[in-house]
Amino acid sequence: MTSIVLASGKGGVGKSTITLNLGLVLAMAGKKVTVVDADIAMANLGLMLGIDRAPITLHNVLSGENDVLDAVYEGPNNLRYVPAGLSLDKVENVDHARLKNAVKTLDTKNDFVIVDSPPGLGDDALAAIECASEMILIVTQEPSSLADVLKVKGLAEKRGIKIRGLIINRSLNDKSEVSVQDIETAMNLPVLVIIPEDIEVRRSGALQVPVVVRAHNSPFSKSMVKLAALLLGQKIDSNPTQKRPGLFAGISAFFARLFSKKQ
Ligand SMILES: Nc1ncnc2c1ncn2[C@@H]1O[C@H](COP(=O)(O)OP(=O)(O)O)[C@@H](O)[C@H]1O
Ligand SMILES: [Mg+2]
Repeated sequence: MTSIVLASGKGGVGKSTITLNLGLVLAMAGKKVTVVDADIAMANLGLMLGIDRAPITLHNVLSGENDVLDAVYEGPNNLRYVPAGLSLDKVENVDHARLKNAVKTLDTKNDFVIVDSPPGLGDDALAAIECASEMILIVTQEPSSLADVLKVKGLAEKRGIKIRGLIINRSLNDKSEVSVQDIETAMNLPVLVIIPEDIEVRRSGALQVPVVVRAHNSPFSKSMVKLAALLLGQKIDSNPTQKRPGLFAGISAFFARLFSKKQ
């Protein structure tokens, strides 16, 4: 139905973290979701899920050995994922152009396909830019992150790719940062969500349990719910003292159930 690639140019801005946790929230909301780790050089998603070996991966798909449907695995909370694979020697044999067809195939079987893209502007990153029906750009409030994402935006526009908007991640709400308004103006794109710097993200990385699963009330998790609601076309009330109808209430209840199970 909808395929979205998360891109940034720069590494370390939160693409993999957001791909996984956004995918989980959409899956928790009852959607059929597959996340694809297209960063075959780094293969982060499997590590973030605590799964480090899979017999068939995106590697095999891009080298023409397997169909993408053979590389889909069940993750937590009904999320499906396509791991990148960990063996570096095969990176040379891949045809990155195959990514687009793989995503198309997955798209026919899912409500959402979310693709985590590699950093830089190499063949792998360029293939990722073109693989989905739309793109969301992720930036931090640092000048270097903005310079890189502007390049990606230019490349995407040249290829006629729809850019839905921007995610600002790791916001410190500090005067030393490039302001949200300046980013919006420079990029000429709407800001979909501002995600604060959140210690729970690091903790989750170390524990190999996704943030929205183990810290559902953290600022990061709340941002993921907001983003998911936006993609589902639902409005949520950001005022936490009021009753939140619809999706947000549903996900909150889901989180509450998960949480109570652990206690
Ligand atoms: N909102 C956040 N708050 C704190 N740490 C974050 C946040 N988003 C990402 N990180 C951390 O930043 C690092 C890079 O994130 P990652 O998702 O791997 O980025 P990318 O995929 O863009 O390279 C990781 O250590 C991750 O835990
Ligand atoms: Mg990554």
